[in-house]
Amino acid sequence: MPDVKRVGVMTGGGDAPGLNAVIRAVVKSAAGFGYECIGFEDSFDGLIDPSRSRTLTRDDVAGIVRIGGTILGTTNRGDPFSYPGQDGAEVRDRSTRCVQTVREFGLKGLVVIGGDGTLTIAERFHRLGMPIVGVPKTIDNDIVGTNSCFGFDTAVAFATEAIDRLHTTAASHRRVMVVEVMGRYAGWIALYAGLAGGADAILIPEIPFNLERVAACVRERERFGARFSIVVVAEGAAPIGGTVSVVEQAQAGRLERLGGVGSWVAEQLEGLTGKESRSVVLGHLQRGGAPTAFDRVLATRFGGKAMELVNHGTFGMMVANRPPELVAVPLAEMVGKTKQVPLDLDLVKTARAIGISFGD
Ligand code: F6P
Repeated sequence: MPDVKRVGVMTGGGDAPGLNAVIRAVVKSAAGFGYECIGFEDSFDGLIDPSRSRTLTRDDVAGIVRIGGTILGTTNRGDPFSYPGQDGAEVRDRSTRCVQTVREFGLKGLVVIGGDGTLTIAERFHRLGMPIVGVPKTIDNDIVGTNSCFGFDTAVAFATEAIDRLHTTAASHRRVMVVEVMGRYAGWIALYAGLAGGADAILIPEIPFNLERVAACVRERERFGARFSIVVVAEGAAPIGGTVSVVEQAQAGRLERLGGVGSWVAEQLEGLTGKESRSVVLGHLQRGGAPTAFDRVLATRFGGKAMELVNHGTFGMMVANRPPELVAVPLAEMVGKTKQVPLDLDLVKTARAIGISFGD
């Protein structure tokens, strides 16, 4: 065992703007508490193969608060409990190797920054005795137990700007513009960006839609002189009685890939309204680039709080934003759950009150 106090940090799952701000806060506050920080690269792969790890100093994290992505290699979604072998070799359980790595490095704690998939794996490791602290990350804002996650604000800001830009071109051509945003199981991005961007209809996974209703909204706008409409649709939204649009079926360790609902909605609306309708998919543009100031601050607070928990020896917990405070909630409380938009949320009520259609 080393006589130096050590903490580990890793990122997993899809990227979200703010990952580097968390890493920076962990490294800097670890130094303040007298810890050395080890960064594990490529998600849990860095625990399976410790040669993919390195000491992170304050110098290593200087200037990264504003940079998207992660400095820790890739954020792949591999699960060490059922780890796919190379070139079709059979799936193996590599979790024991991960536990061993944490012991060999003599880590007092391991900060795992990730979304629901990564944090579910982290919770399994905690049950195996690993000293884990989770930091929630997702642009979808669908992690249970925390009011918000870094990445979401950046995604909403980008989608809002895109909707703003589409307004002027939609008006110039008197078109219906359909904007497909991310949001696999939850419509938070669509709801917030739709409201901020002044959308006329917002279609989310929580509310199955009937396109006749959306077409009626477009026609109603025509009647009072608005000759264009903006529809925001979450990738996971589906028509009443229909299914979500899948681009690629789920594979081992990978969820199904969604996409295509935007172009389908545009095509249907063109048929129903007779108005030229176009679609735009914002896709990964919502995940790339620099985090907003809000996300940099939230991510920094999450990193600092995670390190505080490690130093106190409080493990099996996830840091969570419960304004005005950050708190620790058991990882077990978020496993297997998704925070969807509640249908009685004030934002939904307000959207309806100002005439936004949810297609229901
Ligand atoms: O979970 C975040 C998210 O961006 C979802 O909104 C989206 O469905 C998914 O990741 C896309 O993942 P990938 O980049 O792996 O296709």
